[in-house]
Amino acid sequence: MKFVKPGMKIGLGTGSTANHFINALGAAVKKGLDVKCVPTSKATHALAVSLGIPLVTLEQEPYLDLTVDGADEFDSSFRLIKGGGGALLIEKIVASSSKYMVVIADQSKRVKTLGKFPLPVEVIPFGVKSTAWKIERDFKFLKMEARMTLRLKDGKPFQTDGGNCILDCACGEIKEPERLEMILNNTPGVVNNGLFIGLAGIIMMGTPKGVEEIVRK
Ligand code: A5P
Repeated sequence: MKFVKPGMKIGLGTGSTANHFINALGAAVKKGLDVKCVPTSKATHALAVSLGIPLVTLEQEPYLDLTVDGADEFDSSFRLIKGGGGALLIEKIVASSSKYMVVIADQSKRVKTLGKFPLPVEVIPFGVKSTAWKIERDFKFLKMEARMTLRLKDGKPFQTDGGNCILDCACGEIKEPERLEMILNNTPGVVNNGLFIGLAGIIMMGTPKGVEEIVRK
């Protein structure tokens, strides 16, 4: 909450960790804090409404002061993997519309090299099998191998808030995240991928001794 100032326009992340922040923000709003927020998913929208947090759309407020979100993995260069909860596209749009992004994550999410967590890639449902082999080719181009799984929910393809599918790509160590992000995003059928590069400015890392604040230089 230390980054939040009255009058700010704030992007609200998605997931169990982001929910802690949203709950704290809701309590501050009840005490009179004046902020306007943009949620990154239907779930976050519902939580924010239930807490009485004033919401706006990104159309109404295209430039945000701050986004606070969780992550599935982060490295020492502030590069992230996100999308474990399926909200990566809106999260990336909102985070990249913000002056800075604060990530809250416990120390188990810190890795030396990204890639332990399967990389979520959001793809449009049309031609998903064709998109999958093109993604496989992308990984091969970078001398990587990916085991791809179409994410399911209740036995059916998981649907993102934008109506798309997710291919979870277990690819091992990602040595060139910047190149991989660009190559994947240039593949027909791919909407975006879970690599967040150059977005996070501060990581609030939970440790058994308390919260450690890591600031990008
Ligand atoms: C949502 O799609 C994700 O990007 C989440 O931010 C990420 O999965 C972290 O979620 P948890 O805080 O629930 O671990």
